[in-house]
Amino acid sequence: MKLESLQVRQVRNLTDVQITPNAEVNIIYGENAAGKTALLESIYLLSKLRSFRTPHIKEVIQHNKNELTISGVITNHNNVPINTGIRKTNKETEIRYDGNRIKTVSEQANNVIVQCAIPENIKVLTGVPRDRRKWMDWAMFHVEQDYLQTWQDYHYALRNRNALLRRPAKNNEFFIWESKMAKTAELLSDMRKNYLICLQKYYKEVAGEHPRRNVVFGIKKDKYQASNFLEYLQAARQSDIKAGFTQNGPHKADIEFKIQGKHANTVFSRGQTKLFVTMLSIAQAKLLKIEKGKTPIILADDLTAELDNKTVATLLELLYEEKMQLFLTTIEPSEIHKSNKEISLFHVEHGRVKNVRIHAKSRPKNNQEKRTKV
Ligand SMILES: Nc1ncnc2c1ncn2[C@@H]1O[C@H](COP(=O)(O)OP(=O)(O)OP(=O)(O)O)[C@@H](O)[C@H]1O
Ligand SMILES: [Mg+2]
Repeated sequence: MKLESLQVRQVRNLTDVQITPNAEVNIIYGENAAGKTALLESIYLLSKLRSFRTPHIKEVIQHNKNELTISGVITNHNNVPINTGIRKTNKETEIRYDGNRIKTVSEQANNVIVQCAIPENIKVLTGVPRDRRKWMDWAMFHVEQDYLQTWQDYHYALRNRNALLRRPAKNNEFFIWESKMAKTAELLSDMRKNYLICLQKYYKEVAGEHPRRNVVFGIKKDKYQASNFLEYLQAARQSDIKAGFTQNGPHKADIEFKIQGKHANTVFSRGQTKLFVTMLSIAQAKLLKIEKGKTPIILADDLTAELDNKTVATLLELLYEEKMQLFLTTIEPSEIHKSNKEISLFHVEHGRVKNVRIHAKSRPKNNQEKRTKV
């Protein structure tokens, strides 16, 4: 999957920006507060309809404006160019793909697949269980076709059980929702376990001979067994009634990353944490490409910050090797464009973007930009 062209309107300080990226490496550079991350954020928004920096779209829409629009041309896995675009106000979202109105965010996230290597990813190690669950749920969504439906079924049953916990209810009322929860909990648990096993394999491949390759991925042991979840829920009912909610289950699951038996976040330095989560993102992208035939667009924000030159060189090599379309932001581009790859440089200054030059061979003629309107 490649982004052939992009038009961004009224996203943070980007009033009206158009770029024609190349199929391999796109380096977005400029001073602090120029609008580099806003450009990456726009590509992310085109896929996921939300920002990776804030849950509040109001903060992303340009000050004193009511809406943002982002559109572009995507080539899918069969190399067919497709127009897509989104428009967002505080209240409404409009999505178009290939001339059709798209109704769900999940559908668009599958139309435009992105994989992020952004500073916020360190929450996978340093954040709270909810951050890791969120990370896991998005990852699973792209990999397991049935995950979203199973997840929604589980949460629907969970909400119904929680409602019963707060009022006098009969055993058979509980049984309906508890058995639905138990059925979906086991499926969720199996899908998550299998994904982590597979991801660990790809992580090891990406990490190569790196001393931190032996990180063990797993689901934190919980008070219940997924296969006996129904019995567990029945036994926990009184305690859950007291608490007023379901205290345990896949909705409270946590993921562990351990190295020699210790939690990675207690062992890794800040730089090592960043290296780990970046390698994890590359591993996720690789897994998607190889196991599912979905090649994501990679967005890497501030990759060079906090990392020494050798580590940056290692990461760039890993990223370049994958042959996925890459968007990389940096303050100083000189250290990252020493490569024989086809590289486009975009200079961002006060919300304006200039394509400075194409580093290697120029783009083929049939890859011309196609403008889109939302
Ligand atoms: N809603 C908004 N409307 C207008 N401008 C905004 C809005 N939100 C943020 N900005 C401004 O947009 C600019 C671009 O921010 P961005 O985070 O993209 O910068 P950056 O180039 O990534 O900088 P850095 O190198 O510090 O990461 C900043 O000056 C910021 O203050
Ligand atoms: Mg930034």
